[in-house]
Amino acid sequence: MSSGVFILLAFLLGFQVCDSLTYYEYFVPNGTIDAGLVAEGDTFTLNNKDMTIFSGAFHYFRVHPSHWRDTLKKLRAAGLNAVETYVPWNLHEPRQGVFDFGDQGEDMSMFLDVRAFVQMAQEEDLFVLFRPGPYICSEWEFGGLPSWLLRDENMQVRINYAGYTDPAVNFFNNLLPLVVDLQFTRGGPIIAVQIENEYGSFGDGRDAPGKQYLELLRDTLTANGFQESLYFTSDGILWNGDKGAVEGALMTANFDNQATANLERLKQLQPNRPLMVMEYWTGWFDHWLAPSHSVTDPNEFGATLEEILAMNSSVNMYMFIGGTTFGFMPGANVNGNWPYYTPDTTSYDYDAPLSEPGDYTAKYIIAKDIISRYNSLEGIVDHPPQPPQREKVAYPSAAITESLEFSTLLSQQISVETNGGPMNMELLDINDNNGQSYGYVVYTTQTMITPNSALLVRERLRDMAQVLLDGVVITKPYSDPSDISGFGFWDGMDQELALPGNNQVAEITIMVENLARVNFGGPENFHEKKGIWEGPVLIDGVQIDQWTIQPLELKAKQVSSLTGWTSYSGPLDTPAMYKGLLDIAEPPKDTFLDMRAWNKGVVFVNGFNIGRYWKEGPPRTLYVPAPFLVTGSNEVMIFEQYTPGPDIAFSDVPILG
Ligand SMILES: *[C@@H]1O[C@H](CO)[C@@H](O)[C@H](O)[C@H]1NC(C)=O
Ligand SMILES: *[C@@H]1O[C@H](CO)[C@@H](O)[C@H](O)[C@H]1NC(C)=O
Repeated sequence: MSSGVFILLAFLLGFQVCDSLTYYEYFVPNGTIDAGLVAEGDTFTLNNKDMTIFSGAFHYFRVHPSHWRDTLKKLRAAGLNAVETYVPWNLHEPRQGVFDFGDQGEDMSMFLDVRAFVQMAQEEDLFVLFRPGPYICSEWEFGGLPSWLLRDENMQVRINYAGYTDPAVNFFNNLLPLVVDLQFTRGGPIIAVQIENEYGSFGDGRDAPGKQYLELLRDTLTANGFQESLYFTSDGILWNGDKGAVEGALMTANFDNQATANLERLKQLQPNRPLMVMEYWTGWFDHWLAPSHSVTDPNEFGATLEEILAMNSSVNMYMFIGGTTFGFMPGANVNGNWPYYTPDTTSYDYDAPLSEPGDYTAKYIIAKDIISRYNSLEGIVDHPPQPPQREKVAYPSAAITESLEFSTLLSQQISVETNGGPMNMELLDINDNNGQSYGYVVYTTQTMITPNSALLVRERLRDMAQVLLDGVVITKPYSDPSDISGFGFWDGMDQELALPGNNQVAEITIMVENLARVNFGGPENFHEKKGIWEGPVLIDGVQIDQWTIQPLELKAKQVSSLTGWTSYSGPLDTPAMYKGLLDIAEPPKDTFLDMRAWNKGVVFVNGFNIGRYWKEGPPRTLYVPAPFLVTGSNEVMIFEQYTPGPDIAFSDVPILG
């Protein structure tokens, strides 16, 4: 190579580096912002420059905050120019009037600095599509609504009912001022804000009171200064048309296939405005008892993405990274077929372009390639490099060293006495009169029983129960599809359980698990209180009204301060806590708990609720991000409802089923 060519090449390479722009430099070339995102004619404009939105959904509450930046870099490295997130009201207002944006010392507070997340997106050269709900669906507990709403016997959510709209508006009035200055028009990254979520799947926004409700949310955004951003709604357009629309907001479409039909319908409903797919479903979520992990063909994923972009539509890939639904935060669906109610799994991998722990998948490579071909700014904006994947480690199995009996666990819980029959967890006067939101609730009574006694729960219990007679478990774990309609399961209506006694007073304990409040559907699905409350409980035909009710919330502080552990001497035959220590010599790495040898329960790593496991799957591992671990000794506690495994095992790969 002659030195002349070498200098020319160096010049060209150097020129390339200097010349390529960030998206912010491109859209705000001289620091002057004249206009935000505008949706008129065929294309969006941002600051008066044409823009196609290439966005990815990434929920800050599903990825450990220490991994936010790495994940945002992975979105940007795929060529995306935006990130979309929902905002979970239930986490941000754990008790009515108490707002948590990262500083309330709640189990998930560390995830809740939404302002920091939005700012970080800008630092990583991404614009933000902000979806504050207040209802978010999202396979999230109660669609993000706080359970304390259900203390109102007449509650009607997502409609113009003051018992709902007053707290919803109050939430907006506390959330929105935190990020109002982060709008694009004020130098921040937020370019668009969604009003409600798939309202057309719930009601009809064209008639009052749905219309009044949507307008109230829109006007609350405006009262908080958000009219500078683009308002939009998002709906399954082919099914619901403009039922979820509200005047002053752009309609966008949600789907996983039939892109042309969907976008043509959108164009017909809303001519002369740019097209946007707010949720292009990259995969799907899993629910417990499903036959296998949901996966879709990467090439079909790519073909539909290409079909969307060929229509000159903008797109948000939902999810770009699903992440994990930690703790008791998964939601559920109801459906007409077995198992009728489908609680979602802890893993929210979603078969998305980035896997649950943030690894690149075939869909990532395909999406990156397609975006580079459809991005008119290709060659003008930078291509930051893909961050390396984080290493995963299969730590050596940890021995179970201690256990804590069920009676010892219960003796350390609050007790509420009632003479009025069992009540739902939301009504317990705990948590400053906000009731119990999540976990298990335990009902205990004493009564005389005979060899032929029977326990009858009228209507249904929510959602799964185990019964102990004088401390001995007399129910069985799930083993057959027909169990779902029997005693102790969500579909069992007016079910009886034999309660054999010997003509003496016995203690009857019913532990009921809230497996998740439904997050999607019509109004009939949004009254889901948990525990026993639909009907009375009878023993031998006599209604039993005197109960001791104990919330088993298993919050981090409660779990970490449990006393009465004894050195482990083998499996207990009741629900129980088990403990082991994982010693890590080096800086910790991401890992997976391999729960295949355990039955059903919840795992706490250094006090943090990593989530539910259930041998029925499909997932059989639980993702443990490295930031939950420390160099040195890590405490792993497992609340196992049936039979523990021989030890606490780890894997360097997920088993999603
Ligand atoms: C800055 O850029 C905008 C948008 O490209 C343009 O309209 C405006 O005239 C520019 N202003 C200055 C002072 O260069
Ligand atoms: C997309 O935009 C390009 C460039 O403006 C135009 O030539 C093409 O016809 C558009 N395609 C569709 C399907 O609207």
